[in-house]
Amino acid sequence: MCGIIGYTGARATLPLLLEGLARLEYRGYDSAGVALLPGRGGDGILATRQVMMAPATIVVRKAAGRLDRLQQLLRKHPPEQDLNGFTGSGVIFTTGIGHTRWATHGPPTDSNAHPHLDCRRRVAVVHNGIIENTLSLREELLSRGHRFTSETDTEVIAHLLEEALATGQGMYCAWLQVVARLKGAFALAALTADAPGSIWLARFSSPLVVGRGADGWLVASDIPALLPYTREVYVLQDREAAELLPDQARFFSFNGESLTKVPQTVAWELEQAEKGGFPDFMLKEIHEEPAVVRRLLTRYYPATGDGPDLGLPWGDGWWAQRRKLWIVASGTAAHAGLMAKYWLERVAGLPVEFDVASEFRTREPLLSQRDLALVISQSGETADTLAGLRLCRARGVPTLGIVNVPTSSIARESAAVLLTEAGPEIAVASTKAYVAQLVVLALLALRVAQARARHAAGVAAEAGGTPVVLPEDSGTWRQQLERGLTVLPTAIEELLGRQVVIDPRIVEKLASSEHVFYIGRGLDYAAAVEAALKLKEITYIHAEAYAAGELKHGPLALIGPGTPVVGILTQDELISRTLANLHEVKARHGWVVGVGPQHAVASDEAAFLDAYIQIPPLPGPARPVLAAPALQLLAYMVARARGTDVDRPRNLAKSVTVE
Ligand code: G6P
Repeated sequence: MCGIIGYTGARATLPLLLEGLARLEYRGYDSAGVALLPGRGGDGILATRQVMMAPATIVVRKAAGRLDRLQQLLRKHPPEQDLNGFTGSGVIFTTGIGHTRWATHGPPTDSNAHPHLDCRRRVAVVHNGIIENTLSLREELLSRGHRFTSETDTEVIAHLLEEALATGQGMYCAWLQVVARLKGAFALAALTADAPGSIWLARFSSPLVVGRGADGWLVASDIPALLPYTREVYVLQDREAAELLPDQARFFSFNGESLTKVPQTVAWELEQAEKGGFPDFMLKEIHEEPAVVRRLLTRYYPATGDGPDLGLPWGDGWWAQRRKLWIVASGTAAHAGLMAKYWLERVAGLPVEFDVASEFRTREPLLSQRDLALVISQSGETADTLAGLRLCRARGVPTLGIVNVPTSSIARESAAVLLTEAGPEIAVASTKAYVAQLVVLALLALRVAQARARHAAGVAAEAGGTPVVLPEDSGTWRQQLERGLTVLPTAIEELLGRQVVIDPRIVEKLASSEHVFYIGRGLDYAAAVEAALKLKEITYIHAEAYAAGELKHGPLALIGPGTPVVGILTQDELISRTLANLHEVKARHGWVVGVGPQHAVASDEAAFLDAYIQIPPLPGPARPVLAAPALQLLAYMVARARGTDVDRPRNLAKSVTVE
């Protein structure tokens, strides 16, 4: 969902900007561009603010489509061409900003691509987010004679800066003045030919991180773009701004107070953001799942025999007093939350209300301060999820963020945080982060169950308190889930290490189908919803998930000869029922596939299945976590068979920072 990159220093900035943009590609985009300012490279980082050898001209190149279109354009029209024939010694472009755009205002065309310039071409701006008061600002600027060259909301910022600078004030005052006029969400980077060498930043609601490289300063929307140059990052927070110079950075608030910011050290390795011999990030990330689960168990599940140690600030009594848990998340993270609802209710006896964040934030939920909101997000920046978190906080509801990016807004704003430790996830379709979310949520369910059971025992001993009532089989579920988690890494390894994980007939069948249905009950329903999302995201096949029992209330009408239906069969007590539903499909000449352990299809009852995806043995409540890599691989292989771009599906973005 748009990416910003910027650099100012002693190096040639263009290769660095292009590499940064390539590293941000997973955010999703439909056009790209760069703005460059010349300086004198090669003789140290003081060059750009010194006497300019070349006229300070902002050079802009932008193109709709993928980054290679921008690269072609740069080869055809190298930036040096714009320096009025000046090619004096040592002059290179040492300050620059770049952007990948995902269209909101105006279609993805060359002219709507960022950066945007003012009328005099003295200011260039890139922007992630949405300026909500763009219409009134545009009318105002038009009435004062400004000429617009794009349909974007962003261009108003360049013209506002032009006016602010025309009054004779410096860029610092102009920047604060303009930022104060903007409503909406924005991460901004700007440069001006009047002060070459500086990059100006501002953040409200869209992420922006600054890093100090060996020979200059960088800014990016996401940490992976900075990893080749630095591990020390300064995270801009809402209403914070900065000026980056080749040899220093200064931070200040929108009110003009100067800020002292302390860098955070990112534990991510560069290799984690590279393909490492795999054809694409998605396959690599699926194969990282055993290591991710091991890392989580090491962090949160010490071998003391006392159960999970999550380091949360709440004691047994607090957990016992919870009235309800709310799960608020979007996309795949929401599907992890749906799975957790079944665990938390069955194991910990705590009612859970599940909502996708976009609905939660608009439906006036009946919140109480005795509830807890679980806010789940890989990026920690999804706009709807963040809004859901803020809504809970405003109503005094305690919040627990389950987040993969430790520097993100959701990690920062939640009262307590559990990190999913999956490392950078680059492919748009979430795989390892989903498995990590499931593991953290399962550990949380175990911890809450333990707290509530201990409290119930204490209250019973004292008598007179309000005892917590746990479901009758919660103890068995707890034990099985705990045992399942400890052997999960090996089980995933066994699954991924098989010569044939997915029967090629299934891949062929799905790849040639227009519609695919996934069904399941309970935990398997939650697994089905995510499996269907994976398939539609990367193969563009219409895939739907239904609670198996709902099939007869409508979807059965869609089953014709050969329609594939995948039934998830990991829960022993539900297998017969789901098989019965698959039978109904078979009777309508559908093509039925099962997914589950070997024993689920051991009886004649399952002989009618057309194909089966077998997962290794694991205790029941943990089995749907093991079905995840199998179903991810299924989607992956179908996508490969159809030749789609697995890592960067059309129209989708990794991190959705707009409503
Ligand atoms: C986008 C991504 C999904 C992701 C969802 C929520 O739609 O394409 O893969 O599940 O956002 O993202 P989050 O970062 O909040 O988990």
